[in-house]
Amino acid sequence: MAIVRVPSEDVVLRQPDAIRAFLLRYGIEFEQWVPSQPIAADAPADAVLAAYAREVDALKARGGYVTADVIDVKPETPNLEAMLARFSREHWHDEDEVRFIIEGRGLFHVHPPNDPVFAIEVEAGDLIRVPRGTHHWFDLCADRRIRAIRLFQDPSGWTPHYTDSGVDQGFQPVCFGLVYVSSERTPHA
Ligand SMILES: [Fe+2]
Repeated sequence: MAIVRVPSEDVVLRQPDAIRAFLLRYGIEFEQWVPSQPIAADAPADAVLAAYAREVDALKARGGYVTADVIDVKPETPNLEAMLARFSREHWHDEDEVRFIIEGRGLFHVHPPNDPVFAIEVEAGDLIRVPRGTHHWFDLCADRRIRAIRLFQDPSGWTPHYTDSGVDQGFQPVCFGLVYVSSERTPHA
């Protein structure tokens, strides 16, 4: 379940309707998808895309997206930190950023032109569509894990354009929804 926060205003939203309404003010769409059949988070990409084919096809038609793929990021992914560094600075794209989370979680910060920065933490079951041109940055949570369906209008449009505003420096990439399993273990487990 996604969590939206406005750090400067001490606002935390956890209800889907409240999150949807808040994000729509900035043209960002939020949905929650249920697979057409139960699907393991580590199922092959083709099976994942098939399980969400209805939703993916509807979104393709609505947003003009032509391709969909599945991205896998794990702590052991080669050059992970260098890859993450490309997107953890404020930037925008000529392409919408569309992600449906299958496993793990991620943290988007959005910097609207006339409003405070807010954070959107997404996890399995959450779809987010950030319109092209939106100033934002992205971090993984401490577990360094995300598996997600991506949709593209034109994959070449997904190159980041950096604002170099430095605004991202004022926000910690801390996820609120992350459960630290180790702290829940019983002593004899
Ligand atoms: Fe981005």
